[in-house]
Amino acid sequence: MLIKQVHIENNVTKKDILVADGKIKAISEHIDEKQADDVLDLDGKLVIPPFVDSHVHLDSTLTAGEPEWNESGTLFDGINIWSKRKQMLTQADVKNRAIKTLKKQASHGIQFVRSHVDVTDPTFTALKALLEVRAEVADFIDLQLVAFPQEGILSFPNGKELMEEAAKMGVDAIGGIPHYEFNQYYGRDSLTFLMNLAKKYNKLVDVHCDEIDDPNARNLEVLATLAYESGMKDKVTASHTVSLASVNDAYAYKLMRLLEMSQINMVANPLVNMHLGGRFDTYPKRRGLTRVKELLENHVNVSFGEDDVKDPWYPMGNGNMLDVLYVGILASGLMGYHQILDSYQLIGANGAKTLHVNDKYGIEVGKPASFLVFDTDNFYNELNERKTMLYSIKDGKVLVKNHPEMAETHLKLK
Ligand code: FE2
Repeated sequence: MLIKQVHIENNVTKKDILVADGKIKAISEHIDEKQADDVLDLDGKLVIPPFVDSHVHLDSTLTAGEPEWNESGTLFDGINIWSKRKQMLTQADVKNRAIKTLKKQASHGIQFVRSHVDVTDPTFTALKALLEVRAEVADFIDLQLVAFPQEGILSFPNGKELMEEAAKMGVDAIGGIPHYEFNQYYGRDSLTFLMNLAKKYNKLVDVHCDEIDDPNARNLEVLATLAYESGMKDKVTASHTVSLASVNDAYAYKLMRLLEMSQINMVANPLVNMHLGGRFDTYPKRRGLTRVKELLENHVNVSFGEDDVKDPWYPMGNGNMLDVLYVGILASGLMGYHQILDSYQLIGANGAKTLHVNDKYGIEVGKPASFLVFDTDNFYNELNERKTMLYSIKDGKVLVKNHPEMAETHLKLK
C-alpha cells in the first residue's frame, strides 16, 4: 500500500508512506507508485500515530445506573454502588460490555488500551472475562490488564492472596489504591507489597495513587521512592495523583525532583478527575486534576486516560480520546497554539511510553504500519473542527474507514 502526500505529525512538507507486510517500508517526499499494489491518494491529509487510552476500567463500563445512579458524584459513592453491581457480574456480562466499549474506542482511532480490573472478588469473574477479551480483540486493540484492588489490599479480606493469584493468572501490571486503605500505614505497606509482587512476577506497575483532594496524602512520594530505589523506574505508573493539586507549592517543588529522578509515568484522567474532584469543597472549588503542566515542565511523562465510560464514577463517555484531550488541555492551561498542535502526544506517544509499547509505536521506517488519517492538515485544526477520521490502519490493515462529512446547510446572506 502506498499512501501519498500526507502531513505526518503536522509536518508542513507532504510525504509518501510505503507499507508492506504490515510494516512501514519507506517514508519519502516521492515514492514510485509501481512499488505498491494499491495507492491511497490522501493529498494534504494529516497522519498521526494511533490513540492510546492509558487508563480505563472495562469491567465496570456501561453499568451507569445499575443498580442506582451515583447522584452525589463522589468517588466513594461510586465505590459503594460498584460494590453492589459487582455481585451481579457474570463473565458474559463483563465480556459483552467490555467488547462494546473497545469497539467504540477502536472506531475513534484508539489502538492501545490499559484497563484496570477489580480483583477484590474471590471469584475473579471480571478478570477471567477480560483475559478472554484481551485475546479476542488482539487484531484491533493491544489491551493491557492491571490487577486493581478496588477495595484495598490490606483493608480487604485476603487482599494480598487475591493480588498474587491475579498476577499468576496473567495480568500485565500490578495495581493498588493506597489512599483508600484504612490508614496511612496500610497505604504505605500496600505499596511495598505490590512493588515486590510486580518484581517477583516481572510485571509493570500502575497504582491509583492519591486520588483524593487531601493535601496530606503522601503515597506518591512513597511510590516514586520505591520506583527509584528498586530500579523499576519507568515500569512504574502513578495514576490520578489528584492530591498533587492540593499540596502546597514548596512540597510540590521538592517532590518534582524525586518524580523526575524516579522516571515514573503519570496518568491524569481529566474528565473523571474533574467530575469527582472538589466534591467536598464549597468555594474556592478545586478542579481535582493533577499538576499536568508542571509535571511536563519537569520532564515527567504524563498521558491522559478516559478512566470511566458510563459507570458508577462517570455517567458520560463514548470512547473518544479527543474529548478527554480537549478538556484536559483546557483545564491544565495548555492552550498555547503549539501546545494544542502537539497535544496529541498526551493521548499518543506519552501513553505508549507508559504502556511500554514503544517498539511498536510511532511513524518510522521499520515500525508497524499503524496510524490514523484525518480529513485536515494539522492537529490544531483537527481538535478545533473535529474533521472526520478517514482511516485507522493497524499493522497495514484498515480497521476503520469513514467517509468525509457531507452536511447540507442552507445559510444564505440577504
Ligand atoms: Fe481509575
